[in-house]
Amino acid sequence: MIDDKVLDANRRALDNVQGWVGDQIHHIVDFAGKLHKEYSISGAIAEVGIHHGALFFILISIATGNEKCLAMDIFDDQHLNVDKSGKGSLATFEGHLANVFPEKRNSVDIWKVDSMSLSPTDLRERLSGQRVRLFSVDGGHTVAHVINDLNIAQDNLTPFGIVALDDFFGYHWPSVTEGYFRYMEFHNRRLAPFLIFQNKLFLTTFSEHEIVLKKYREYIDILFGEELHHKWKYSMLSGFKVIAKDK
Ligand SMILES: C[S@@+](CC[C@H](N)C(=O)[O-])C[C@H]1O[C@@H](n2cnc3c(N)ncnc32)[C@H](O)[C@@H]1O
Repeated sequence: MIDDKVLDANRRALDNVQGWVGDQIHHIVDFAGKLHKEYSISGAIAEVGIHHGALFFILISIATGNEKCLAMDIFDDQHLNVDKSGKGSLATFEGHLANVFPEKRNSVDIWKVDSMSLSPTDLRERLSGQRVRLFSVDGGHTVAHVINDLNIAQDNLTPFGIVALDDFFGYHWPSVTEGYFRYMEFHNRRLAPFLIFQNKLFLTTFSEHEIVLKKYREYIDILFGEELHHKWKYSMLSGFKVIAKDK
């Protein structure tokens, strides 16, 4: 049932690339691909915070045709990594791209940039106007970074687009959770959370929240059926219904 391309990218990424990706996250990515296909959504795939690319390679496995794949990180400008979250390396990322994912070499745009210096319009220009359908927020983990990066994501997202926020409710990075709640209170215009899973919070666009939640729930039911009733539950977050899985 899972797309072979996603399964293969997940295996290659987890076997070869150091990172912190949950072992089931590829299912969520796979279903984003299926959902977007069903609703004829196309768009770029982007991540802020690449480190060595583990998650990025899984995300871009669903890219098709002219969809841009944008990798943003300060990379070796680590003096800009104010809270020491991960440690990007351009040489390591490029090495994995060349040796582990050579078929993606020509479709990845590597942008060495401090996301704190970006506006949503800067990203739009970099993508030549293409909106983003899958956006991972995993750069700096301070409150300010989270607010900034979610703002950039919301202004560039397609309808049905999905944002993954890393380290949500993570004990080591409470500032991510704090940043999320501040963002929701003071800055949010169109994002709605729908899933908490393997250290990440997933959000989609406000108008499509209900349908995305329903579709993911059905998919999760098929995937994890047996454990559904004791490990998954519906909860409320920021006024939105979400599906949440306990550890
Ligand atoms: C936790 S790591 C990313 C992990 C990666 N997504 C993965 O799954 O393997 C955080 C990354 O964010 C980068 N970073 C930190 N501050 C940043 C900023 N202001 N702008 C862009 N990237 C930043 C770091 O260099 C590091 O590579």
